[in-house]
Amino acid sequence: MSGVAFAKLKLYLSTGKSKSEGVEPGMKYPPEPFKIKVVEHISRTTREEREAEMMKAGYNVFNIPAEKIYIDLLTDSGTSAMSDNQWAGMMLGDESYAGSRNYYHFERTIRDIFGFKHVIPTHQGRVAENLLFSTILHKGLVVPNNSHFDTTRANVEYNGGVAIDLVNEAAKDPNKILPFKGNIDLTKLAALIEKVGAEKIPLGMLTITNNSGGGQPVSMANIRGTSELLHRHGIPFFLDACRFAENAWFIKTRETGYADKSILEIANEMFSYADGCTMSAKKDGLVNMGGFIALNDDALAQKLTNRLILIEGFPTYGGLAGRDLEAIARGLVEVLDENYLAYRISQVARLGDRLEEAGVPFLKPTGGHAVYLDAKSFLPHIPQNQFPGIALIVELYLHAGIRAVEIGSLMFAQKDAETGVVRYPDLELVRLAIPRRVYTNSQMEYVGENIIEIFEARENLKGFELTYEAPVLRHFTARMKPVMV
Ligand code: F0G
Repeated sequence: MSGVAFAKLKLYLSTGKSKSEGVEPGMKYPPEPFKIKVVEHISRTTREEREAEMMKAGYNVFNIPAEKIYIDLLTDSGTSAMSDNQWAGMMLGDESYAGSRNYYHFERTIRDIFGFKHVIPTHQGRVAENLLFSTILHKGLVVPNNSHFDTTRANVEYNGGVAIDLVNEAAKDPNKILPFKGNIDLTKLAALIEKVGAEKIPLGMLTITNNSGGGQPVSMANIRGTSELLHRHGIPFFLDACRFAENAWFIKTRETGYADKSILEIANEMFSYADGCTMSAKKDGLVNMGGFIALNDDALAQKLTNRLILIEGFPTYGGLAGRDLEAIARGLVEVLDENYLAYRISQVARLGDRLEEAGVPFLKPTGGHAVYLDAKSFLPHIPQNQFPGIALIVELYLHAGIRAVEIGSLMFAQKDAETGVVRYPDLELVRLAIPRRVYTNSQMEYVGENIIEIFEARENLKGFELTYEAPVLRHFTARMKPVMV
């Protein structure tokens, strides 16, 4: 990357603002660009209550009722607060089976931002993935991506394909500060095409931002480069667009030449290089449910639509109510607001900055939607076979009522069927995903302070062992107990 861009990144990382925006006095961390009209009560439980809940849950926070959680950072998906404008739009829902006016608004908005010809609504992102991969894949085909999200990988593999992650090597070092750690390695992508042959690759993908790799953005140069490489071999190119606006904000603030472009212009350019996208509107759509697939290919769109009718519904609602389509149409416009994005990204960065001051290890730089604690460095005395990420998650709940998700050995460690040897992932991460427009900066300060308190007494934390595990996706239902020493 150019020296200018890197200087800008350093300024951004130290101030939360890019040079192009200027750092206005008092605006190192832009405050919430909204005021609160409706509130939802949350209550703090006592440590004793939390201990009882945790035992009942088998030390798995997925099993704890949400009402017993104080600050819920399990996911940023479907947990956004909608605006008054979106709620007003819900009252204008046209619940006609066919041709709802909200569908036309939804379609028009998506065409304006994403630029694709066909717009197919689905009830969430993984259905868009399911439709796409069940239509284009068969055994032996290969799908490259920077990093597949787990539902994307599952949909590729379930349909006989091989999902290959080609994120750049630097992304694997949690301490390396780079502006676009979500970039795909184009040399590796070229080598893969050479090795398996273009005819074995029905499409290539990029996930923006790269959720499995720390919510890190992909640069416009990398999106363009991927597009050129795939298209040179006649391979279609799709974006997994869940967090497209957050990615666009990083391009604006970190990539040379984009400082004066609007988020809409940047989004238009990103999607202009692709042939289609899958989208979970539960993230940057600022809604609680919804998704879509959008694309240019007429014949493929026809096939997807036929399948949609079988599994979701008529093409003008696709598993959603008319009011949901309206809320998405409005959310997709609101998410492009630069005041919102400046606040959003800085809320995440601010938590990272607080942890950095106290020496708490986490994946750097902070991503768009989450801070990923580095549990291996946080708890070096707990070996990987005793789940350091779980130890940290359990303590986050017991100490402060905070819920986070483990992205480490519980989720990914694999036992070799023949040798019985367990392969552990490189990183043991604990993701603190921040819902959009939900928690105030003072609630986030509470999160930071409590993590620091846990860090200061980290030697007291103990490892865990499994008492129950399901054969697949065990992290959702696993039960555990503390290791007795
Ligand atoms: N792609 C990415 C990059 C995602 O992060 C998700 C969901 C999906 C696809 C699937 O979308 O949930 O609407 O079916 N991520 C959530 C998370 C679940 O917690 O990161 P969905």
